[in-house]
Formats: sequence, structure tokens, C-alpha cells
Amino acid sequence: MQPFDNYAVAPEPAGLRTAYASSLNESRVGEVVQVCGWVNRIREHGEHLVFVDVRDFTGVVQCVVPRSENLHPEWVVQITGTVAERPDGTDNAQLASGRIELRDPTVRVLAEAEPIPFSLDERVELDEATRLRYRYIDLRRTRMQRNLRLRSIVNSAIRHSMEEQGFVEIETPLLWTPTPEGAREFLVPSRTQPQNFYVLPQSPQIAKQLLMVAGFDRYYQIARCLRDEDLRADRQFEFTQLDLEASFVTQSDILNFISHAIRAVVQAVRPETTIAIDTITWRDAMNRYGSDKPDRRFGAQLHDVTSIFSETQVKALNAPSVQAMIAPSPLSRARLDELVDRAKGLGAKGLLWLRVEEIDGQLSLNSPVSKFLADREQQQLVAALGAKANDTILMVADEWERAVTILGQIRLGLGRPLADQNILDFFWVIDFPLFEGLDEFGTPISAHHPFTMPNEDDFARLDTDPLSVRSQSYDLVLNGWELGSGSIRIHTSAIQSKIFEVLGIDEDTARSRFGFLLDAFKYGAPPHGGFAFGIDRLSALLAGEENIRELIAFPKTQSGSDLMTGAPKQVDADILAQLGLQPTARTKD
Ligand code: AMO
Repeated sequence: MQPFDNYAVAPEPAGLRTAYASSLNESRVGEVVQVCGWVNRIREHGEHLVFVDVRDFTGVVQCVVPRSENLHPEWVVQITGTVAERPDGTDNAQLASGRIELRDPTVRVLAEAEPIPFSLDERVELDEATRLRYRYIDLRRTRMQRNLRLRSIVNSAIRHSMEEQGFVEIETPLLWTPTPEGAREFLVPSRTQPQNFYVLPQSPQIAKQLLMVAGFDRYYQIARCLRDEDLRADRQFEFTQLDLEASFVTQSDILNFISHAIRAVVQAVRPETTIAIDTITWRDAMNRYGSDKPDRRFGAQLHDVTSIFSETQVKALNAPSVQAMIAPSPLSRARLDELVDRAKGLGAKGLLWLRVEEIDGQLSLNSPVSKFLADREQQQLVAALGAKANDTILMVADEWERAVTILGQIRLGLGRPLADQNILDFFWVIDFPLFEGLDEFGTPISAHHPFTMPNEDDFARLDTDPLSVRSQSYDLVLNGWELGSGSIRIHTSAIQSKIFEVLGIDEDTARSRFGFLLDAFKYGAPPHGGFAFGIDRLSALLAGEENIRELIAFPKTQSGSDLMTGAPKQVDADILAQLGLQPTARTKD
């Protein structure tokens, strides 16, 4: 097996071929070989000959073919020829087979092809709708071949790592029942039980917990998950997770299992890169970056400057929390105006900006509000941020979480384009709050699913100060994307009942939603916890892509269509009738 640049690994040739394009080089001069593939390009070569580049998944090989052969781009051919060194000065150093060509060929056309709807040349900008409509042609392009092969290597490295760590791969049902993950679910009508529905799983969450009750100890699955949510660059309806669960373990064991898998993946696709996977707490992440999935590849950290402005004359700074940062790059006045609008769009009352100027060796601030700022406030702000001449300071004042989040978004927008694309910044975020806020009745809202174990040190505050209770849950972040999350689960009915009570889930509701899990837990549930990370997201970031669609063979568009098959489609009334369904006017979300 021979690996190539595009992550292709050529097996022993078989069938209609005796060689792959990129495996042909000077060492094989004189051999008669058979290659198979698509006509990539035809170029003139004197009066009687043409150069035909034949492409297979490993690359291309140049064949010197009589002009009389009737060949066209993308025809499928088998060429039998003799490996010969190229004439001096005609080598192509870009190609593995760039020092040889095939001569005296016998050409067999295996299939003719109509002209393809777009060029496979990577330099040509293509409209995505066309690419998706003819995805099977788009996938012929080097970039897509490389991406999907990379993904296959990622899967393989994950499997090896899991097996090495004693995990057993178990498949769980796709026709399932609601899982408390939070996204809208896809329904599947049952034909045998009309008007009843299965739900496509958002993740194997409950199934894997049942496997712990069943004693499997360490489970994993490369699992397809389905969520009916709005699509974005990092979201598809269907996606794939490495999903795992283990018994009799603590949080740090789970982090170690996943770190092992991540290191195996990076080693397999980027062997030259070493990674460190460090840990920060949720509160630190929010305080420093205004995000629970910060992009740390650039600086511009947030600073809490509330105390400096405790007696300020500037009304806009009269807020429970004042957050400031130095912009990561110089900003024009027009850009600052845009940022103010953006901050307002994100829910801020405003965004204050101040330019740092040096006058007679003294730093001072220039801004529409600076004349209202006391000298002391100006000097303390400059000192707190370590600001230098020509820096621009940006500030948001609000309650803490809103202030850091909005400034964090501004930070991301300004810094992300500057981030070094070669860095892989993996890290854990731990100590998330158990609840993400209170609903209109003052009842806490679960930040994860209701089986997440609270931090034992915080149990006592479940009733008195629920929002300060931390959970035993953790996220893995890579370059500002949430790659995965997991938690230690509640496995005793006493704690579970307490959490349901705090969440305002009464016994009947709990029974109707998760009765089968609660029943299972009555029969001896081991302490357990788990994790899942998105393989689409991980592969995309490793491939240097910004949209997970580039790592998925047949993705949906932003609006959820498959442009190639035309799905989703209407179905005949008699099919609906068999399922006991009737079309009605659609109610808006
Ligand atoms: P969570 O819901 O955080 O956790 O999902 C884990 C990871 O799955 C990926 N992901 C997605 N990728 C692409 N498109 C989507 N629509 C999408 N939704 C999620 C992300 C995410 O971090 N059952 C829990 C895990 C556990 O607690 O063990 C779960 O699914 O990379």
C-alpha cells in the first residue's frame, strides 16, 4: 500500500489495471503497464500525436497517444503502454509520475462521456448550487477527493484508538424515540401503527446510557445523528459523531479517552504537528474571550474594568459590568461605526471606542466620550489593558454575561481573519454551569440534558442559588469551533428526582418522556459518563475547510434541499393514506 499527497492509499492493482497513475516513476521504466481512469486533459503534441493525461484517484499519468484515437475529456479509458522517461526538460515536478510517460499505447474506451457541466480545475470558482446538483462530478475534483479521503483516515484512526482503549463498537437504532438533546427532531410515521411516529435520534444519548446499565463498560460508535435545526457552516441535518460512554470512570478518564483519540487522528493526518490539549474553566473562557468556545489563535483578550468606572460621569458605563479590549487590528472610523451597529444588533446598548494617542510622551484617549472621562479613569484604563499609542480600545457595558458575550463576538469578527491557519488549538472547557438561566416563572433551564451530574461541591446550592451550580460537563474546542461535549451522568434516583424537581419536571412528565431510562436505572446503574465529538467538524478543520459541507459526500443546502435528488419531495396521496396521514395547511413555526 502506497500513500499519496491527497491521502489516497493505492492498494495492489487488480482487475483491469496493473498500475495506478501516481505509482509510476523512473524505477518502472521499460515496464508495460495498464492504467485505467478518466481522460483528464488532451494537449497537442506535434502533427501525429497528442498528450492524454489519464486520471485515477491517485493522480494523473501522461500518455503519448496517436492523434487518430478518438478521445475526449472525461471519457473512461484503459491504456496499456510502456513506461518511458520523459525527454530532458519536460519533467513536471508537481506530479508523482512527472518524470515518465506511457508510450506506444493500446487505448480501450470503456465509456464515453458528455461534456461535463464545469471544469475540474481547482482554480476555477464554482457556484455551489451547480456543484451540488452534479455532486458526483464535483467529487472528482482533487480537493473533494482529498477531503473525503482525509475523513476516512480520521474514522480509521478513531476506530483504532477506541479499540486500543478497550471500547466495544455497538450500533444503536435510527428509529427511536425523543432524546432530551434540545434540537427539533425528525419524525418518521409508522405504517403498521398509523398516526404513531418514530423519532430519528439526535444522538445515541439514552441508548448508550442503557448500554452502561447493560454492563458493556466502554461503548463507542461512529454514529449518524439527525437534528432538524437551522443549517450553518458547521451544522447539517445529518452529521456524524464519535460517541462514547464508559462506566466506573471520572471526568478526567473521559478527557483522557478522547484526548487519546484526538492525538491518534492528528498523528494520522498531520504527523508533523504536535498538539497540546490544555484545560480552561467556562468562567475563565467567558471572562477572557467572551465565548465558551473561544478562538485563542489570536490575542485581544477581554478585561473587566468595572471597578475603574464605578463613579463615572459617562452614563453608558453605568452598568453592572464594563468589559474592554484592545482591537486586534487598526480600525478606520467607518469600520468603527459598523462595529457599533453590529454590537447593537447583538443586543448591546452601544459600543464605546477610544483611540490611544501619544502627546508629548503621554498616552491619552481620543473618543467622542473622552471629554466626559476623568483623567484617573483614562490612565487606569490604559494601564489595565497595557494599551500603547495607536491602539483602539473597545468597551461594552451591561450585565456581565451579555457584556462579555457581545464583546467576545466583536473580538471574533475582528480577530478570526488574522488567525494562523496552521495552528490546531485544541482545549477543554470544564465547569460549565448546570443551568443556563431562569425561565419566565423563575425555574432553572438545563444547560445540557437533565441527566447531567452537578458538581458535588455545589449540591448544597441547588435550591438556594441554582445558577451558581456547576455541572460535571465538559466541551472540547478546536480553533473556535465546539467540537464536542459530554458529561458525567446522574445514576441514582435520589439525585435525579432532585434535579427534576429543580427543573420543574413532575413525575408524570419525567415518566412519559424518559420512563424507560428511569426504569432501567432501578435495576442497578453503574456510575457513568461520556462524550461525543463531531467528525464532520473535526475533519473540516483538519482539511482547512470552513464549511462541513466540503467534508460530506452528499450534503444539503442551507435551506435543507438535496439539489441532486430533489429531496425533500411531495409524495402521492395514497402513500400518505397508508400512513394514516393527510396533508393540511402548514402552520408557521
Ligand atoms: P452535542 O449535542 O453537544 O452532544 O453534540 C456533540 C457534537 O456533535 C456535533 N454536532 C453537529 N455537527 C454537525 N451538524 C450538527 N447539526 C451538529 N450538532 C452537533 C458538534 C457537537 O459538539 N449526546 C451528547 C454527547 C454526550 O453528552 O455524550 C451530544 O450529542 O461537534
